[in-house]
Amino acid sequence: MKNTVTTLQNQKLNKDKITMLTCYDYSMAKLMDTSGINVLLIGDSLGQVMLGYEDTLPVTMEDMIHHTRAVSRGAKEAFVLADMPFMSYQTSVYDAVLNAGRLMKEGRANGVKLEGGAKVCRQIEAIVEASIPVCAHIGLTPQSVNAFGGFKVQGKSEEAARQLIEDAKAVERAGAFMVVLECVPAKLAALVSEAVNIPTIGIGAGAGCDGQVLVYQDMLAMFSDFKPKFVKQFANVGEVMKQAFADYTKEVKGGTFPSEEHIFAISDEIIDKLY
Ligand code: KIV
Ligand code: NA
Repeated sequence: MKNTVTTLQNQKLNKDKITMLTCYDYSMAKLMDTSGINVLLIGDSLGQVMLGYEDTLPVTMEDMIHHTRAVSRGAKEAFVLADMPFMSYQTSVYDAVLNAGRLMKEGRANGVKLEGGAKVCRQIEAIVEASIPVCAHIGLTPQSVNAFGGFKVQGKSEEAARQLIEDAKAVERAGAFMVVLECVPAKLAALVSEAVNIPTIGIGAGAGCDGQVLVYQDMLAMFSDFKPKFVKQFANVGEVMKQAFADYTKEVKGGTFPSEEHIFAISDEIIDKLY
């Protein structure tokens, strides 16, 4: 069954946790889709994990559309959520609607995600008005890394905690169908989850959220540049891959690969004629 805005919102009502993972290509989309992951997020984290940038700021609309198209071709049941990259919605409401539309039309996403609370409510309202589902993202919003002065846990003071609750309520009022809470103290994230009717998806925000999201390279131990505290490595795929690459090298150099079973035959008669 296809995951939709409605099925995701019903999961909150039924206390059935929502699973989201980042996804950036077709093969991985098929693997996640058949594993029953509810939402595939084409995160702008692709700037770091796929493209090798230091942060998400250089990611372009073209990058996002390119990867979103690949994922949407592989997602039969999962909801395809595409991040709006830095400066694709901050500049104006007009830009926000236009770029959200491109992710839907060219990327074939089922919805878009953008960072910010009360500050981006005009954008959320206008995108929703265009019949495009919007997921908000509050707490640690990586596109604001320069304004924050680094990647840090958000909402720790009373004032910041109140602001976070207000931001969640504001994006809900603006029409967001879901909200990501990143790097927020667990008890505060649980409060936020009770304060709004839309599902909350946590990353570094504890088990009180209505769902969870992780970057797949983090949860598969495929990315070693940086390991945040909130990451759990569910499998050491990085090690498995490194071993396979080393074995391949050894077999090619040793002449044991390719062997009989991997080759195409031709009759000796023809070969003899070629001498
Ligand atoms: O870009 C991303 O991967 C994200 C998730 C961490 C929520 O926004
Ligand atoms: Na993101």
